[in-house]
Amino acid sequence: MRQFPKILVLVLLISLIGSTLLFLHSTSDYQNVGTLLHSQTNVLSHELQDEPTAKIEEGYIVHTSHCQIPDVDLWHPSILQYVRNNSPSLACSRIATKPPLTYTEDEMLYINKTNSPFYNGSLLFCEYVEIFRPPNNDFKFDLGHKRVVFTENVLVKKEFIKVYCYSTNNTLMYQNLHAFTPTKPLLRHMKDNLSLRHKRRGYLEQLNVLMVGLDSVSRLNFHRQFPKTLKILRSNLKAYEMYGYNKVRDNTFINLTPMFLGKYVEETDWNETNNEPFDKYKFAWKRFADAGYHTLFAEDAPSIAIWNFEKEGFHHPPADYYLRPFSLAMASTSSMWTNYKHCFGGRLETDITLEYVYNFIKSRQRAPHFAFTFLTRPTYDSVNQNTDQSHAQFLESMIRCEFCTNIIKLSLDCWRTQSSFTSVITVLDGETSYPLTSANLKKDFLPCLYLSLIGSLESILRLHKT
Ligand SMILES: *[C@@H]1O[C@H](CO)[C@@H](O)[C@H](O)[C@H]1NC(C)=O
Ligand SMILES: *[C@@H]1O[C@H](CO)[C@@H](O)[C@H](O)[C@H]1NC(C)=O
Ligand SMILES: *[C@@H]1O[C@H](CO)[C@@H](O)[C@H](O)[C@H]1NC(C)=O
Ligand SMILES: *[C@@H]1O[C@H](CO)[C@@H](O)[C@H](O)[C@H]1NC(C)=O
Ligand SMILES: *[C@@H]1O[C@H](CO)[C@@H](O)[C@H](O)[C@H]1NC(C)=O
Repeated sequence: MRQFPKILVLVLLISLIGSTLLFLHSTSDYQNVGTLLHSQTNVLSHELQDEPTAKIEEGYIVHTSHCQIPDVDLWHPSILQYVRNNSPSLACSRIATKPPLTYTEDEMLYINKTNSPFYNGSLLFCEYVEIFRPPNNDFKFDLGHKRVVFTENVLVKKEFIKVYCYSTNNTLMYQNLHAFTPTKPLLRHMKDNLSLRHKRRGYLEQLNVLMVGLDSVSRLNFHRQFPKTLKILRSNLKAYEMYGYNKVRDNTFINLTPMFLGKYVEETDWNETNNEPFDKYKFAWKRFADAGYHTLFAEDAPSIAIWNFEKEGFHHPPADYYLRPFSLAMASTSSMWTNYKHCFGGRLETDITLEYVYNFIKSRQRAPHFAFTFLTRPTYDSVNQNTDQSHAQFLESMIRCEFCTNIIKLSLDCWRTQSSFTSVITVLDGETSYPLTSANLKKDFLPCLYLSLIGSLESILRLHKT
């Protein structure tokens, strides 16, 4: 068996109409990461080999005996009254919000004194307290009692903190919240152990997985509203467009549960009457965790979170790095929100969330990791609202970053030798077959999924055949 590069990245960008496909088929009770990846790559190779693009009928993006999806014009006259071209990317107004007085880098917290004139009084000192998650509760956060005072910068070995800064008369002049992804020594040790065990079972791959989801975005609307992100996915990341991707029915929970569990909601013990928490289910992140992966799960808009909206959520954190307590703390700091609740402390909530994901990946460079982030707020409300800039920047930073360079370079080399796998297949959507109301535009159209393997698909397939 050939030894393959240890670190490969699998990037998925999912745009969901509160959506999803059965990524892991309901019956496929995959045993581990290896089989999980195997089932995914099988889907791909099946698509690529058994039903090549050449066979697709004119006017269709999917045309098989059991499934036909028409190829609909992105700018069909019938929808022009609802959709706008060139909608600006969401941004935070500098007039409405002052530039932040504190910022972070890795595990350090700094004061940016350049910005102190924007605040009343002259800065005397700052202090922070920890934000943490109370046991067995997915709906509350607690603030620690210990206050750590600092005046320039400080090493913070906490996950989430709330910062207060005071002026000469001990008057509160500034507050903010910051999230970190510190190394947890015990966790690391445990993961190394699991990872070793996983490898002993014959699984040599260490594919890192990053999944980024956007709520309420159809494939076509992704093309209209996220042109920069789309360009990066296509040109830089050579992403596959999964043109047969579909959803179970409306509602994020209904779709994402099967995506991560391999079972429809109806096939689980959960129902609205018993409203049990979701801890007992083996969601994909748990399986990755069992194989020694460090895991992250981050959502925005905590009041409508996937497994929390009218539900119990998780009594125990579902992932090693779980943003929810921080998001709840943000939500409760109402004075800091501006721009219709898209900006917190002068930064887009989306950027805050994506930075958390980026920091996680950066600090886990040598350890296998799985990250899932799902962003709802910006795209849930409007078909013409987007965070294209944020997502483009995020992907660019992933491409640029030093700790990803090796991965990217390596993968580009692989691609050059495998051109047959990199051709982007153009795709679907059934817009004209639905009543054209604005709500339907948002809710009823087919979602999309981009799959980018930074690394060689063939090598993964080969790995699992040996
Ligand atoms: C400090 O704030 C200034 C003005 O807002 C900004 O230009 C600069 O980039 C900030 N510095 C850092 C290190 O964040
Ligand atoms: C700062 O001072 C101005 C003028 O005295 C006042 O209007 C404003 O409310 C103060 N802002 C804060 C945050 O204290
Ligand atoms: C701080 O206290 C001094 C003296 O008591 C007073 O003159 C000044 O206005 C106060 N400044 C603020 C920002 O409250
Ligand atoms: C790691 O595995 C060894 C045996 O394989 C075990 O003795 C040890 O307790 C494990 N450590 C952790 C932190 O799980
Ligand atoms: C919900 O699940 C419980 C068991 O957990 C079961 O007793 C009950 O009949 C179910 N209710 C519905 C409406 O299916």
